[in-house]
Amino acid sequence: MGIIKKFRIKSFKNKNPIIEFENVSLSYGNRLILDNINFKINESEIFGMLGPNGVGKSTIFNLLTGLITPSSGKIKINGKEVNSYPVYLRTKMFKIGYVPQYGGYFGDLSLADNLKAIGEIVIENKNLMNDRIDYLTSKFELENIKSIKANFLSGGQKKSLLLLWPYLVNLEYFC
Ligand SMILES: Nc1ncnc2c1ncn2[C@@H]1O[C@H](COP(=O)(O)OP(=O)(O)O)[C@@H](O)[C@H]1O
Ligand SMILES: [Mg+2]
Repeated sequence: MGIIKKFRIKSFKNKNPIIEFENVSLSYGNRLILDNINFKINESEIFGMLGPNGVGKSTIFNLLTGLITPSSGKIKINGKEVNSYPVYLRTKMFKIGYVPQYGGYFGDLSLADNLKAIGEIVIENKNLMNDRIDYLTSKFELENIKSIKANFLSGGQKKSLLLLWPYLVNLEYFC
């Protein structure tokens, strides 16, 4: 097992912790991947992780977003333990988002259908959902590529699509 080094580009010691990992461990089968991880990230802080391949950096992101749950320990967001919160609820309640290195979208669906796939889960009113999709694709200048399959978008357009999801599910972004 290797070591993950934490680094903080800016320190805001007096601010509230937004993200906390308390004694978090994770095993896949009988392989221990993360052993008692502890860290805090304060409001406005820029926090990075460095470590060799396979040491567990992406696993920490997966734990934070809710894709996987820890074998033991607590993950807190805004002081609330979120171990049992699914991905969409973490996004909706805490605006947690994650742009992975690769993928993260449905390649065979159009850009608009990618947004609908998530929108339909969290927005009950279909008209409202479509209005939001129109508003966001226009604001991010993606209107004329709404019907293009995600697989065929440029690298930057794919990243824009991923950034739109948290906006889509958070009402307060809409004026
Ligand atoms: N779904 C999985 N099942 C079993 N082992 C996994 C799974 N996902 C990741 N691992 C293992 O967990 C370790 C950490 O992986 P990862 O977090 O992706 O490393 P990195 O620091 O390079 O991002 C690796 O040894 C990897 O093989
Ligand atoms: Mg990784």
